[in-house]
Amino acid sequence: LFFDPALLVTSFPVVLTGFFTSIAIVAVAFPLAIPMGLLLALMRISKLRLLRGIATTYVNIVRGTPLFLQIYVAFFGLPLAGIQIPNFVLGVTVMCMNSGAYMCEIFRAGILSISKGQTEAARSLGMNGAQTMFYVILPQMFRIVIPNLTSEFIVLYKDTSLLAAVGIMELVMYARTIVASTGSITPYIVAALFYLVITLPLSKVTRHLEDRVRGHRSR
Ligand code: ARG
Repeated sequence: LFFDPALLVTSFPVVLTGFFTSIAIVAVAFPLAIPMGLLLALMRISKLRLLRGIATTYVNIVRGTPLFLQIYVAFFGLPLAGIQIPNFVLGVTVMCMNSGAYMCEIFRAGILSISKGQTEAARSLGMNGAQTMFYVILPQMFRIVIPNLTSEFIVLYKDTSLLAAVGIMELVMYARTIVASTGSITPYIVAALFYLVITLPLSKVTRHLEDRVRGHRSR
């Protein structure tokens, strides 16, 4: 049966288990990607060429290759190199390292969007470069990038589904087990609902925040 209404109910608790796994992955990876992205962004705008070079190379490689490929390299490459990391931990690590590169660009754009007058004012009050960054630039930057960070969260949450390819029991993988045993795609519809339950409210919040940021800044 292509669509089986009874399966909507019976597959629910199983797919729910996968939902919790997917949520657990982003709940760890996302908060860890924020300091990582911030560090990379500060490195990218640093005066030191070496730091700039390291951060730029990292961001270019991560953003220039598919996340899917990065997952394969991590999951098949590390064991070949004799490094054993539990699957869940490795999955979280790859998602975090990928998202950190995208967050770097979000933060960098945010920092560069703060007007130069803010820096000049802080410096004229006697703050040094680091104080200016931490007390003046970054607090304003964080408010501006919240909509972008929310989008990044949505992408990260949806992309945890790629981990199904390496056998991590997340949302899609749990749905797939029932699809395989019943021959109906109904569990995938249940899985889709679990994605939408998170992504729809968040994109609504994002739109609202974007309007507010725009209104705020055009005053
Ligand atoms: N699907 C794209 C890829 O495979 C995006 C990866 C993650 N994107 C992001 N903003 N975190 O490369």
